[in-house]
Amino acid sequence: MDKIQILIVDYGSQYTLVIGRTLRELGVRSVILPPKKAEMWLKNNTPKAVILSGSNWSVHSEGAPDLPKSLDVSGLGSKKYFVLGVCYGMQLLSHKLGGLVERPLSHREYGPAEVTVDTTHPLFKGVEEKTQVWASHGDTATKLPKDFTSIATSEGFAAMANKNNRVLGIQFHPEVAHTKEGKKIYQNFLDMSGCKKDWDPINLIHQIQKEVLDVVSLAEKKNLILGVSGGVDSTTLAAVLAPVLKEKLICVAIDTGGLREGELDELKSNTASAGVKNLVIIPAANKFIKNIGTTIDGEEKRGKFREVYKEIFEEQISKHDAEFIVQGTLATDIIESGKIGESMMIKTHHNVGLDWKVDDLHPFRNLFKYEVRELAKALKLPPAVYERNPFPGPGLFLRVVGTPVTKENIELVRSADKTVADIIKKHNIDKNISQLIVALLGINSVGVKGDERVYGHSLAVRAVQTVDFMTAKGFYFPQSVVEEITSALTKHKDIVRVFFDMTPKPPATTEFE
Ligand code: XMP
Repeated sequence: MDKIQILIVDYGSQYTLVIGRTLRELGVRSVILPPKKAEMWLKNNTPKAVILSGSNWSVHSEGAPDLPKSLDVSGLGSKKYFVLGVCYGMQLLSHKLGGLVERPLSHREYGPAEVTVDTTHPLFKGVEEKTQVWASHGDTATKLPKDFTSIATSEGFAAMANKNNRVLGIQFHPEVAHTKEGKKIYQNFLDMSGCKKDWDPINLIHQIQKEVLDVVSLAEKKNLILGVSGGVDSTTLAAVLAPVLKEKLICVAIDTGGLREGELDELKSNTASAGVKNLVIIPAANKFIKNIGTTIDGEEKRGKFREVYKEIFEEQISKHDAEFIVQGTLATDIIESGKIGESMMIKTHHNVGLDWKVDDLHPFRNLFKYEVRELAKALKLPPAVYERNPFPGPGLFLRVVGTPVTKENIELVRSADKTVADIIKKHNIDKNISQLIVALLGINSVGVKGDERVYGHSLAVRAVQTVDFMTAKGFYFPQSVVEEITSALTKHKDIVRVFFDMTPKPPATTEFE
């Protein structure tokens, strides 16, 4: 598969994801990473261009995020890739390269502004000399670094470029629709940095099929095992591979005991719509519960889950004489598991970095969730697949927090999840959220039920909105829905309290463990 050509360093601006989407609309894929992760990623990857996003920070504030250490913006500019700083990105470049960034009262700009651009500069090729833009900044570069010249002005410097046009800065936001010619500016930047169109779902599907066929010998008798969960990633991967691997593709699903209500049926119908001929379902609830035992620690639990998961798949590899195991692992899973560059592990994903007795293939390793959804649409899979919210492999095992995972606790959280899911569906809220999490919290607290003291557990309800799960916003339910959920969940005799968690990611992750 083609390498990712653009890295977007996310400094937290509300517009960062819009930069990614704008580039995709122009046909180019990108990876969006916070500065520390970008630093690791750059050690192992050479993109054609790096875009530094905007931010709420001032470069002068204590703790303001820095340029990734491995980013090359030396002297006359990077030899390897083009760098474009947008808003805070431009201020950071100015500040770090010897310019001056100030907060002059005279030219703080918020909202529509008119800038005068140097139409002879390749970044502004075809752009009107006086063009409407969207600005949102208090700080501004008041003196450009040595070797940089101004290529657009408003009240102050609106854009800059170094001598060889490899390091560039724009003070306004070309990704915002109010910037009339913003798309043209990004297209110019893509042209300058030599990026080719690489975002075409059908083409991507063919590339992935070819990549797999390059390593798999169709003539040999041996099979491929694909772990399926019924989710968007594994179902879409099955649909990509089924037409080319045919009966060699054996899809294996594990009933871990941590699935949501009705999930096994959904899995069967989703894999059928993906054209899967061989589906094997392994019932293993008791095995998982037994191995996880009384473990409460999240990482330990994930470790024990992985052990059983691996053991079952190894058995299936032998049973079906498989020469490869294929998994729907995404770029996010790999990044979050610290598998890029130096390890900076956040969570042990149940299926990343396992040491199999056969080779493992991760054909979606460079894709993000929203891209897989586009592939699913291109493959004409039903909305039940491409609109499906994600659900972690270890499932409800991660949703029993601070107390051992017993059959009773799992049943409680499974039924609570169904209750909340039904309520949000009834109110049409499910369309607005990316993932719903209902977790059992093992903190006992006091309540009163029917005039009697109860000492029991609590449930936490969390919904998030996100595009790529690298960052997420907590969703605020309307008050009437909060009341309805609370009342429905506390009907259970042991549930005393319901907490609603709107913490964004970061600092909180989507799941509780
Ligand atoms: P976090 O909690 O890290 O989750 O913000 C990001 C997304 O990944 C899902 N997730 C997992 N998916 N195996 C999976 O298949 C796992 O071990 C795992 N852990 C988290 C999570 O539900 C969310 O969608």
